[in-house]
Amino acid sequence: MLNPRAISLIVLSLLGSTYAEDYECVGTFIFGRHNDRPAKPTNQQTPLGAEAQLKNGALFRERYYGLTYDNEPVDSEYKIEKLNDEGFYQASQYYGQAPYSGTIAKSHMAFLQGLFPATDGPLSNELLIQSTESDLDNGTVMEYPLNGYQYVMMDFQDPNAPNNFIIKGDVNCANSDSAIAAAYKTEEFQNLNDTTFDFYQSLRDVLPEEDIATSFLNFGNAMDIFDYMNVNWIHNSTLHDQWNITLLDEVRLLSNQFQWLISYNETDVTGDISIGGQSILGGVWTYLNTTKEAQSPLINYFTGSFNTMFQLNGLLQLDKLSANFTGMPDYGATYIFDLMQDTSDNYFVQFSFKNGTDSWDQFTVYPIFGSEDTMMSWDDFSENIKQYSILTLSDWCDRCNAGVEQSSKYPSVCVPYSSTYKAAKELQSNGVDLESILSGDYSSLDIQDSHHSKLSNAAAGGIGAGVTIGTMLVLGALFLVFKRVTRSKKNNVPIATSSESASSDSLAEKSV
Ligand SMILES: *[C@@H]1O[C@H](CO)[C@@H](O)[C@H](O)[C@H]1NC(C)=O
Ligand SMILES: *[C@@H]1O[C@H](CO)[C@@H](O)[C@H](O)[C@H]1NC(C)=O
Ligand SMILES: *[C@@H]1O[C@H](CO)[C@@H](O)[C@H](O)[C@H]1NC(C)=O
Ligand SMILES: *[C@@H]1O[C@H](CO)[C@@H](O)[C@H](O)[C@H]1NC(C)=O
Ligand SMILES: *[C@@H]1O[C@H](CO)[C@@H](O)[C@H](O)[C@H]1NC(C)=O
Ligand SMILES: *[C@@H]1O[C@H](CO)[C@@H](O)[C@H](O)[C@H]1NC(C)=O
Ligand SMILES: *[C@@H]1O[C@H](CO)[C@@H](O)[C@H](O)[C@H]1NC(C)=O
Ligand SMILES: *[C@@H]1O[C@H](CO)[C@@H](O)[C@H](O)[C@H]1NC(C)=O
Repeated sequence: MLNPRAISLIVLSLLGSTYAEDYECVGTFIFGRHNDRPAKPTNQQTPLGAEAQLKNGALFRERYYGLTYDNEPVDSEYKIEKLNDEGFYQASQYYGQAPYSGTIAKSHMAFLQGLFPATDGPLSNELLIQSTESDLDNGTVMEYPLNGYQYVMMDFQDPNAPNNFIIKGDVNCANSDSAIAAAYKTEEFQNLNDTTFDFYQSLRDVLPEEDIATSFLNFGNAMDIFDYMNVNWIHNSTLHDQWNITLLDEVRLLSNQFQWLISYNETDVTGDISIGGQSILGGVWTYLNTTKEAQSPLINYFTGSFNTMFQLNGLLQLDKLSANFTGMPDYGATYIFDLMQDTSDNYFVQFSFKNGTDSWDQFTVYPIFGSEDTMMSWDDFSENIKQYSILTLSDWCDRCNAGVEQSSKYPSVCVPYSSTYKAAKELQSNGVDLESILSGDYSSLDIQDSHHSKLSNAAAGGIGAGVTIGTMLVLGALFLVFKRVTRSKKNNVPIATSSESASSDSLAEKSV
């Protein structure tokens, strides 16, 4: 029989791997993939996917809270001491973000049901107990419904929200689109398309024509074909029985080659093709910096897309460690950036990867950015981030959409950073009332007396002599777009409004 020490060693090795005893985990950023879903297009997650996500969330509860789903204490090298010791959700300790997409959002929520399972409520923390007001005047003590289901705050990003670039940096990004289009035209891509053509056509015999047309059967559709087969391999016994794992793996391998080709370019590491990965990497730094500086939130959990993950694999130089990183991360895979502290209060970042939610998937530590050490000092991490990431919306707008300002592709969130908008601001500071010009009132231009008009003042202010009323209408329209943007603009990073304490959550909620 195993003695308790042996058991706890086994638990330790399951929960994560090795670092010297004198580091402590003080915060984390987790970037995860959604779990099992129907074939695309869909906005659903399957019961299988929900179950796997919930169990995965529970594993992270063990890792960071040192508590099981049933609130039994468990040893974990990565326990974050400042987290609520009963595993109770507090808004100041946890922050989550996902794109406004059904499948990803549902996957995100299922994970949270494992990270923050239903609970009897705060049992020992007096401040939290008082702030939930369970007592009624007639002496009855109420309990929350659904066995104490926890209401966790989630931040879902609208595609046009200023923060959306962090999690979906490849969307609304003209230069990323062009880089991908160019990759399709490369010799490497075209060769693969030619040499695999017969193989794809041979799939005609085993793929139903009503789902996949013969003209669709080529390398250019490698990912969609793999997705169709992978989903049906899991869910459709008729189709599953017509295939075999060798065939599925062949289709998988080609789809990995396809996706890698359009995600990352080794000879142009920070090229436009990996803008999505560069953006989430910037987000990792931004949010971890807040965790480090403000010690709130302690856990950041973002859910995103596989294409961003392929890009991230290249930027972190994980593909140099294992060719497996040129492959699709499995459903529910997680990229983990743990913020560590040594006994002298120095900060480090340690990266771990877990390739999915099967029982055999382990947290594995990898060195990143070509380093040989799995523990990277905060300063070195920051240096690498500067080199490989996009940190601000302004930089993202420059990188993505330079040159498309006047086109319909130009995202409204970028308007404040456009030269057109800056020109409009300058006109305004010269006394031109763009809003009334838009409504047909040109009086602020004082056109009658052309020598002293605001128009010539504006020209003198560097706007250029070619500024006409037509141009002003364009500038004015953009200006109004900007006003809409600023109204919906939110704080980039959530920060607790008061120092870390049990009551900070109720204080933060005052405006509700
Ligand atoms: C007290 O009030 C609650 C809520 O109105 C009610 O459900 C409960 O039955 C009351 N208890 C007694 C003992 O009256
Ligand atoms: C990678 O970048 C190089 C240099 O910019 C370029 O010549 C090549 O076509 C790119 N490859 C792909 C697949 O985009
Ligand atoms: C791949 O080859 C097929 C068959 O020649 C062709 O129809 C398709 O356009 C090619 N795809 C790309 C992306 O070039
Ligand atoms: C499985 O796939 C076949 C072929 O496309 C289809 O006819 C059948 O309805 C599917 N079965 C289920 C349960 O979806
Ligand atoms: C797997 O399926 C392919 C395509 O139908 C077939 O050619 C191959 O012989 C099968 N392999 C095994 C081991 O059954
Ligand atoms: C790091 O985080 C702190 C706390 O949120 C913030 O004040 C500071 O501006 C951040 N630093 C940068 C460079 O963003
Ligand atoms: C790649 O993954 C396979 C299966 O998970 C594993 O057996 C193999 O050792 C891995 N290869 C490398 C180079 O890490
Ligand atoms: C993750 O799993 C997938 C599917 O099994 C595999 O193709 C990929 O190479 C794996 N990635 C790593 C880093 O092991």
